[in-house]
Amino acid sequence: MADWRHARLTAVFYDFGVEHERLGRIGGRLLWGADLSRFYGDIHRLRELANGGRMLDVPCGGGVAFRGLPKEGARRYVALDLSPVMLRRAQANAGRLGLPGIGFVQASVTALPYREGCFDLCLSYFGLHCFADPPAALAEMARILRPGGRLRGTAVVRGSGLRQDTVISLCQRSGIFGAVGTAEDLSSWLATAGLDEIGVDRDGAVAFFSARR
Ligand SMILES: C[S@@+](CC[C@H](N)C(=O)[O-])C[C@H]1O[C@@H](n2cnc3c(N)ncnc32)[C@H](O)[C@@H]1O
Repeated sequence: MADWRHARLTAVFYDFGVEHERLGRIGGRLLWGADLSRFYGDIHRLRELANGGRMLDVPCGGGVAFRGLPKEGARRYVALDLSPVMLRRAQANAGRLGLPGIGFVQASVTALPYREGCFDLCLSYFGLHCFADPPAALAEMARILRPGGRLRGTAVVRGSGLRQDTVISLCQRSGIFGAVGTAEDLSSWLATAGLDEIGVDRDGAVAFFSARR
């Protein structure tokens, strides 16, 4: 079973695709039957979402979300991932975008090295389906948010069709994906994590979610 800490090729291949919006959109349509405009739209309006607060991007991957980050927001932004390859790509990306000050942390989402309530916004794009225990990951994200803090993200979910479910099973077999739930599972995991104002919209096999602590 592949592990993201060592899956160098997977990391580079995935990150190259998602960083190039046109490729990412084509991949989203072909693999998941989803229109990823909403994902790219979300990260492009990070300036507005950040609203002066402290942000945690978990898992940050190669830093695809940095493109919407205003320069002055970089010092309030922590990019966390398990993979050293992804973190190196994220650091290079921050350099290219002229965003000094972002904090880079190698850690697991199931043991976030932060005290309770110290972030205003948690971003989690295309990570949950890669984790062995998504409810435990969401509980950690909820823990580090201040009361009233927001969580936003995307995840691949089951239940949109045989083709997508087959791709999910193949990704699980290769170790790239962990436990993958349905959109309904995701709603219930968010509620179990103690979050409210939960929104989960599915487009093909991609769920766009938001919640508040
Ligand atoms: C599909 S990528 C998504 C990354 C990024 N958010 C994006 O949209 O491009 C999944 C990421 O999850 C990371 N990851 C996997 N398991 C993890 C864990 N337990 N804790 C933190 N990151 C993890 C991987 O290293 C990888 O960068």
